Amino acid sequence: MKIPVWLDCDPGHDDAIAITLCCFHPALQLLGINASYGNAPATRTAYNARSLITALGMFEQIPVYAGAQKPLYRTPEYAPDIHGESGLDGTELLPEPKCDLQEKSYLDAMEEAILKYSNDITIVVTGPLTSLATLLTQRPHLKSKIRYISIMGGGVEVGNRNDNCSAEFNVWIDPEAANFVLQDSELKDKCILLGLDITHKAIATQQVIENVRGVVDKSKLRQLFYELFQFFAHSYEGAQDFKNGPPLHDPLTLIPLLEFYGWTPKSQVQFYYKRLDLKVVDDTNQPDFGKTCVIKEYDFEDKKGTMVGFNSNMEFFWKQILSSFEEAEKHSTIE
Ligand code: RIB
Ligand code: CA
Repeated sequence: MKIPVWLDCDPGHDDAIAITLCCFHPALQLLGINASYGNAPATRTAYNARSLITALGMFEQIPVYAGAQKPLYRTPEYAPDIHGESGLDGTELLPEPKCDLQEKSYLDAMEEAILKYSNDITIVVTGPLTSLATLLTQRPHLKSKIRYISIMGGGVEVGNRNDNCSAEFNVWIDPEAANFVLQDSELKDKCILLGLDITHKAIATQQVIENVRGVVDKSKLRQLFYELFQFFAHSYEGAQDFKNGPPLHDPLTLIPLLEFYGWTPKSQVQFYYKRLDLKVVDDTNQPDFGKTCVIKEYDFEDKKGTMVGFNSNMEFFWKQILSSFEEAEKHSTIE
């Protein structure tokens, strides 16, 4: 049985790789995408999601919905320093979308997917938690029907936002939404958190980026992603001094699922995590505003606490990424 996933994202260069992995990894069944504000305004991320799905040749199979347009209470922050004004700067090869945004609301679409794949579905969040918090606030009966929530966000020892550099962008832009998910007694223990502690170990070196471009077949699709990776690498070197390559945050959300659903042996994935109760600093006057703080650590036998990732077999990770591009090339519609 494939792993049914819903992708709640803000494409976004690393979101683009997560979309590719969701579309083409043999273990994953991508049910739908909602594009929310985050790396760029929601109108931009929605366009980017549709363009990427078109480039991947999946515009007839994967529905794209407009997600949350702004944080629950705050004014939106974006990340042009990393992703550019469009949210996906760095290439001219992104095609005009061949699909429109779905008319149906993401709330109705997500509810239908959760009910159809009840107790088996994972909600993957690679942007702010606003869309998910909105859904589960308005429709709390869905909480018990979600098997896992795999989140790129937060960080225990590492940050990339606020005066102390102790917060992570996805959580920092909507801390109330993050606290809703991470503090809810029905949700927190089924959350898998891929924070900066682990994502800063997933560095897309120039060798990785060359492998994405490929040596023999320089397909337009590979060239497109090569250019996106180069832009992402240049941004991260300039903005956060990453000299060996950018951290590829978002696709890591899919890796623990391969182990937890029994697709890949634990010995291969080697996802190393702790079980923690977390709370996000939501007082704007605090220098640690947006930081994910540990309030309790559990023993594994307690089976409680968010599963916070600290390491994984990165060779295995890159192998999943590169093989998804081989598959993607067979479907791509850009020539
Ligand atoms: O802090 C990294 C996260 O913020 C990633 O999800 C990236 O895409 C941005 O959304
Ligand atoms: Ca993202």
